Amino acid sequence: MKILAIETSHDDTSIALYEDKRIIKEITMSQTDFHKQFGGTVPEFAARRHADNLGVILKQFINEFDLSTLDHIAFTKEPGLLGSLHMGRLVAYGLGFSLGKPVYPVNHMHAHIFAVGFTHEIIFPAIALIVSGGHTQLWHVKSVKDIDLLGETKDDAVGEVFDKIARSMGIGFPGGPLIDKLAKESTSPANFDLTDDGTYDMSFSGIKTKIINYVHNKNQTESTYSKADVSKGFQNAITKILVSKTKRAIEQFNPASIILGGGVAANSQLREEFAKIHENALIPELKYTTDNASMIAITSDLLNNKKTS
Ligand code: KG4
Ligand code: ZN
Repeated sequence: MKILAIETSHDDTSIALYEDKRIIKEITMSQTDFHKQFGGTVPEFAARRHADNLGVILKQFINEFDLSTLDHIAFTKEPGLLGSLHMGRLVAYGLGFSLGKPVYPVNHMHAHIFAVGFTHEIIFPAIALIVSGGHTQLWHVKSVKDIDLLGETKDDAVGEVFDKIARSMGIGFPGGPLIDKLAKESTSPANFDLTDDGTYDMSFSGIKTKIINYVHNKNQTESTYSKADVSKGFQNAITKILVSKTKRAIEQFNPASIILGGGVAANSQLREEFAKIHENALIPELKYTTDNASMIAITSDLLNNKKTS
């Protein structure tokens, strides 16, 4: 099945040409460097940049490939920034109309789950932990089309907290990879334990405020502190709570596999600990953890291919 997929939910404009679990070409234009100056994504600017970038990327696909051979076009319908999603949707339907091809919507969170399908055979039922800059969710994936949300963060997403803590320590944006790297230099990790409330929901605003206040106090009193120890302490707490919630879901649902996804799935400590809790822990390659159109394509294939669905 040959699919052209479009992803514009947040700050990456991405188009992929896909055929039978193989990416023929993917072009992703990241806006991270632009939004860096604001310390986070500005929705109105993001939407305008998607409009510009989609034109640039699509032109390259039109020049290089015969799009009349496509089976269908897929796009990210939700969730995401409304203006950004709208840009991808307009281009998808415009293209579908001009080529006479069907256009199918894909849920961005489901795509984070199925991105692992490029490198692993997904065995159902599965429990999926999706951790990104905008979402932190635990899913019960009974089949491609039967997916229940077990719980999610009630406030900040884990990736967002990585970014905000990194900003408070002045180490840069996006914070996740920088904290991951710094944590490896820690000699005496700080203790920022998070208590598990026994549900599948999560809350990260408390630990965020605690760490940001700690850093501000140190700065105000001009005391020294170890950024590496704060990073490692934070990472320990986050990993422990995410693993603990996933373990509870394993005990309750006895899944055949567990899946990790989303941008924070790039975190080295989380990958390591997640791999230990189930014999079929499916952890995607780093390139499939972040937002990209390839994951939209494979999900649309799983959902709409009569041979596989
Ligand atoms: O899924 P994603 O690419 O995009 C959106 O959520 O839009 O996730 C991005 C998030 C950012 O918050 C970034 O700091 C985080 O993923 N991230 C990481 C790591 N690499 C990226 N967080 C922790 N450790 C990492 N190695
Ligand atoms: Zn995402």
